[in-house]
Amino acid sequence: MALLEVSGLNKRFGGIRAVKDVDLSVQEGQIVGLIGPNGSGKSTLLKLLTGVHKPNSGSIRFDGREIHNWPINKRIKQGMAIVFQHSRPLHRQTVLDNIKLALLPDRVFNIHYPGDIEAKALQAARLLGLEDVVDAYPGSLPFGYIRRMEVAKALALSPRLLLMDEPFAGLTPSEVGELAELILSARHEKQAIVLVDHNVKAVYSFVNRIIALYVGAKIADGEPREVMANAEVRRVFLGKSMDEGQILQPSMASEPGGDNLLLDLDIESLKYGKAEILRNVSIRIREGEFASIVGLNGAGKSSLMKAVTGLVNYTGDVKWRGMSTKRMTTAQIIRLGIAFAPETRELFHHMSVKENLEMGGERLNRHELEARLEDVYALFPILRERVAQPAYTLSGGEQQMLTIGRALMQAPSLLILDEPTLGLAPVVLEAISEALLKLHQSRGLTILLAEQNLHFALKLSNSIYLLDHGSISWHGAVADFVQEVGDKFLV
Ligand SMILES: Nc1ncnc2c1ncn2[C@@H]1O[C@H](COP(=O)(O)OP(=O)(O)OP(=O)(O)O)[C@@H](O)[C@H]1O
Ligand SMILES: [Mg+2]
Repeated sequence: MALLEVSGLNKRFGGIRAVKDVDLSVQEGQIVGLIGPNGSGKSTLLKLLTGVHKPNSGSIRFDGREIHNWPINKRIKQGMAIVFQHSRPLHRQTVLDNIKLALLPDRVFNIHYPGDIEAKALQAARLLGLEDVVDAYPGSLPFGYIRRMEVAKALALSPRLLLMDEPFAGLTPSEVGELAELILSARHEKQAIVLVDHNVKAVYSFVNRIIALYVGAKIADGEPREVMANAEVRRVFLGKSMDEGQILQPSMASEPGGDNLLLDLDIESLKYGKAEILRNVSIRIREGEFASIVGLNGAGKSSLMKAVTGLVNYTGDVKWRGMSTKRMTTAQIIRLGIAFAPETRELFHHMSVKENLEMGGERLNRHELEARLEDVYALFPILRERVAQPAYTLSGGEQQMLTIGRALMQAPSLLILDEPTLGLAPVVLEAISEALLKLHQSRGLTILLAEQNLHFALKLSNSIYLLDHGSISWHGAVADFVQEVGDKFLV
């Protein structure tokens, strides 16, 4: 008997059919990958399984029992656990307390506080390599650690079915490898796992079966090799990425023409409290250049982007066309023609897709605004279909597209992108690569990219800065990067 047996499952949101007649089964001990383009219904399916959403019709049998009407806590008790796509840690609690909370009894009036909670939580922290940060607060930790903490919360429950929604998103290749190993070694033999992730390489090496979704419906189910070779899966999800695979493409960026210095940045020091995040970082960007900052999570990439946009304090100076921006507010800096798509997205959650985009183009006249909107919709067609939808109900990838789209609306001179590849399907990455190259080449847009996806960064950039523990440890042209540092980073 299968551990999980789903049949005829349907979920509608208004006119959108997010999950369509899905049948699937998962056996004890099986590790299943769930893939599909952005908005194909993967997260919705996981939320139906755990009871966050109720299906419109269909059946979910877990361990032989029909559970589609059960509340979440009852399903968790029966042995399900989920790692959500978006981490929402409790910032006033330590890492250990966050994990402990997942283990607390699910009744308000429970008078017994199980004595082994502390030990179980510590063990889960240890399994995920968090033992050194159990007393730290989530806000002070790099992104990779927050994802690990989310996995620890789920694993602490020793579930029979572990559902993970993009645990690897935003991690560098070496961090992905580490986390995958930790998860596999922490897992007990009979535990089944359903993994959603856009990191094709990671999914491929992790799972023994793959299910592919497209517009809510199942389009393939079987051996990983077979599913990855499936023509429809390649067309709607993989694009050319499997052929290009891990082979490095030479940079396709055109050399910047003039010598006009746009951005001249010299940061002596950037600190959060006592912790020094950046030290003696210098970056110069010429007009028309495509520069990328690469480095591990926690290296300081996002802080650097925030310094340029006036969101954090620092000592040193940042000059835009020779003029210091140090005393300017973020609003003033943005008006100079600098657009920013932050890693944390910062969308206006209760505003619609169109309203979010209009906020980006708030200083354009009606005619320009319409033209820009059309450009963004051409780049991300799904946004046109979702124009009236509030931002918080968009899928992870759709939110990322909206963040990039909003920055493009501004018609900037310098576009700053912090991890734009986060959570996007391979086909969408291709579309974005092409669009950025086009903007860079035909309109001469200057771009500053912070990225952990090296293949993406190298393909697009003129110059690379490697940020290592808050300092630039390497700077130069793409070709030299590949020769001199590449291999270490491309594991
Ligand atoms: N509460 C909601 N209201 C309206 N539409 C919704 C809601 N939740 C999800 N959707 C829509 O349903 C579709 C499926 O969303 P889902 O989050 O399941 O996609 P996904 O496969 O996880 O995508 P991604 O890879 O981008 O995370 C999306 O197009 C999304 O906009
Ligand atoms: Mg999702």
